[in-house]
Amino acid sequence: MTVENSSATANQFEADLLWTSEQPLIPGRQYQIKFASQQTTATVTAIKYRMDNHSGARLAARTLHAKEAGRVYLYTDEFLLFEDLNSENNLNFLLTDWQTNKTLGTGTIDFVLRRATNLKWQALTIDKAARSAQKQQTPKCIWFTGLSGSGKSTIANLLEKQLHQDNRHTYLLDGDNIRHGLCRDLGFTDADRVENIRRVAEVARLMVDAGLIVLVSFISPFRSERRMARELFAADEFIEVFIDTQLAECERRDVKGLYAKARSGALRNFTGIDSPYEPPESPEIHIQTALLSPQAAAMDILKHL
Ligand code: ADX
Repeated sequence: MTVENSSATANQFEADLLWTSEQPLIPGRQYQIKFASQQTTATVTAIKYRMDNHSGARLAARTLHAKEAGRVYLYTDEFLLFEDLNSENNLNFLLTDWQTNKTLGTGTIDFVLRRATNLKWQALTIDKAARSAQKQQTPKCIWFTGLSGSGKSTIANLLEKQLHQDNRHTYLLDGDNIRHGLCRDLGFTDADRVENIRRVAEVARLMVDAGLIVLVSFISPFRSERRMARELFAADEFIEVFIDTQLAECERRDVKGLYAKARSGALRNFTGIDSPYEPPESPEIHIQTALLSPQAAAMDILKHL
C-alpha cells in the first residue's frame, strides 16, 4: 500500500475489487465494509476501470457484474484504522449487504486517498437552531415514496398549501421538476436512480439545516437509498410517507400516458413494469389512497407534524 505520511486512519481509498453478487455493483449505494475487526458503511464513488476477465485489459465501466474485477474508489463513513501500515497481509476487506449480511464482493485496499483530510467542516455562527427559531418552526423532511401516478405530488402539493397558509416556511422537491435541472443528466437505470436520490437527499438536508419544512416527492423505489436519506437526518426530523396505490390503479389513471408506453415497450425501466419498487417496511405514515381522498391524506400527514 502507498501512503503519503504516517497517519494510520483514512476514509478514502483506491482498491481492487472482485464483485461476486448476482446483483451488479451500484456506485453511490451504501454497502457494509468489513475490514480487519472494523465495520462501517462504504460507498464505491466511482469505478476507475474494469479488468477484462480474459485479456486483463482495462475497460471503462459504470458497474461490475458477478465475477468481474476492477479498480474502484471507495469512501467509508467512518475512518478505518490501520494498525500496521507496512503489512501487506491485512488490507483485505469484504463488502456485504447491510440488510442480509451477504457478501457482495471482496477486495484489497491499495492506496489511501488524502482528499478528505484537506476538507474541514466550517463552523458557522448561525446554525439550524437559530434559523428555525427565527422561523418559529421545527424543520422536517417529509419523504413521499410511491409508484408513478400514486398521488405523491398531489398530496404533497395539498400539504404544502396548508402549511403555507399556516405561515410555515416550506419547500417541495418534486422528482419531475428536479430532473429538469439538478438531475437532468440522470435517467432511470438503477444506478441513475440511486444517484438521483442521493442528490435530492443532500439538498433536503441543506434545506432542513436552513430551517425549512421540506417535502420530497420522488418514487425513490429502493429501500437502501431511502434508508440512506433517513440517516442524514435526526430521528424525529425524517418522516417517511408511503403513498400506497395499487399498480393496477396507477396504470388505469395513467395521467402522463407513461404506463401505456412502458407496456408497449416504447419506454424501458419503468417502475412497477420492468423496474422494481420496494415498498417501505415501516414508514411513519402509510396512506392507502383507495381509502382516503388526497385532501384527507394531506390532513392526516399534517396531524403527524
Ligand atoms: S426515482 O425513481 O428516481 O425516484 P423520480 O421520482 O425522480 O424517480 O421520477 C419519476 C418521474 O419520472 C415519474 O413520475 C414519471 O413522470 C417520469 N418517468 C419517466 N420515465 C420513467 C421511468 N422509466 N420510470 C419511472 N418514472 C419515469
